[in-house]
Amino acid sequence: MAPVVLRSVEEVKAWATGLRREGRRLALVPTMGYLHEGHLSLIREGRRRVDAVAASIFVNPTQFGPREDLSRYPRDFEGDLAKCASAGAEAVFAPTPEVMYPSGYQTYVEVTEVSQGLCGARRPGHFRGVATIVTQLLSLFRPDVALFGEKDYQQLQVIRALNRDLHLGAEIVGMPTIREADGLAMSSRNAYLSAEERQRALSLSRGLRAAVMLLQGGTRDAQALVGAVRHELSQAGLREDYVELVDAERLTPLASVAPGQAARLLVAAFSGATRLIDNMQLGG
Ligand code: PAF
Repeated sequence: MAPVVLRSVEEVKAWATGLRREGRRLALVPTMGYLHEGHLSLIREGRRRVDAVAASIFVNPTQFGPREDLSRYPRDFEGDLAKCASAGAEAVFAPTPEVMYPSGYQTYVEVTEVSQGLCGARRPGHFRGVATIVTQLLSLFRPDVALFGEKDYQQLQVIRALNRDLHLGAEIVGMPTIREADGLAMSSRNAYLSAEERQRALSLSRGLRAAVMLLQGGTRDAQALVGAVRHELSQAGLREDYVELVDAERLTPLASVAPGQAARLLVAAFSGATRLIDNMQLGG
């Protein structure tokens, strides 16, 4: 069945209140649209966990820097609606920027520690924008569960922190990155890549897999693990933005992976003009 399309804050409140009155539990899947299998896996998992799923489709202007791709971010609303229907979403919230940031809007959410390094250091203001819109969405829908992909691993930790600190009460579920058959992490921004850039972009997942293998072989040193990713990036001619080994929860830098420790290796790099990110769990 086609999902109901909600356009205003009032429509969301009425829809979510009706659902709660019927005693049904709600999952929310926030997205910026141009949906791929990664997003659909979140909707399906939401359906598996609770009674109804709402997806939001909103290209959030406050999380884009002045020289980033807001105006050319890929969009396909009709295609997205059909995908939401096939994955089982009951409602789609598709507001305009004026609905989320009306004239007089002045409230922003800043998550301090986990926003600081990695993408936070390279994209000033990005996580403030993410935290602000996700707080708005969680406050509006009051979902029982909200689902996010682990591809945006730092974003997931930012959202876990704001949900906890602001008592928003959702269960935040992080879902594994969905990859193309050749290992490329699915991302709406893959649409920007030429065939050659896409081929070279495989070096991100190849490097991460090489590091996982190294750790399995007993190499625990951050320099060696990070070096395995850097080697693949430079072989493919990609420009590194960062490669870092961090504690999986606090995102603080690690010099090595202690036995039993949950670490995360994260990479950001440019294939042509397109900035791509990926990450994998190491240990834990
Ligand atoms: O991951 C995304 O698509 C966005 O950052 C999110 C969480 C929908 C907030 O705009």
